[in-house]
Amino acid sequence: MSTIAWNPDFETCHEQMDDTHREFVDLLGQIEAALGDDDTTLLARYDALIAHTVDHFAREDAWMQANGFAAENCHSTQHKQVLEVVAEVRRLFVDQGKRQYVEQLLPALMEWFSQHSQAADYGLAQILLNPEEAAVASAAEPALEGAGGDAAPARSGCGSGSCGH
Ligand SMILES: [Fe+2]
Ligand SMILES: [Fe+2]
Repeated sequence: MSTIAWNPDFETCHEQMDDTHREFVDLLGQIEAALGDDDTTLLARYDALIAHTVDHFAREDAWMQANGFAAENCHSTQHKQVLEVVAEVRRLFVDQGKRQYVEQLLPALMEWFSQHSQAADYGLAQILLNPEEAAVASAAEPALEGAGGDAAPARSGCGSGSCGH
């Protein structure tokens, strides 16, 4: 049985984020459905996922930037790492014909997304939905040493309870 399916646990309560996440899962399902098709069809589905994911992550990164996150926070770093893996799998498929990596990537991406949506994305969604509360919590955090008085420290964590930062 396919593991690629929407699960209510993925919901963050942020409508636009959840809509994007449903599309992401749907695109993974479309790739899975094309695994038996020719290379051109499979690559087109894969490229649709890449384009969507670049946009998806860029929007979340922009939300983080607008809410005081450091550029290199752990949530954005996860996005960058996933995009690197997805690009490498495309290269192996196109240059070396290794379709099996596309197939193997699907459950791995689904597992990653399950954790990411419930931790990093959920944490970001709560900040977007409750900016005043988030600002108070941020101000209550101890200032970084050498941050220079009244400058608010940039968030380096993802805002989720499970983040180690
Ligand atoms: Fe997301
Ligand atoms: Fe994210």
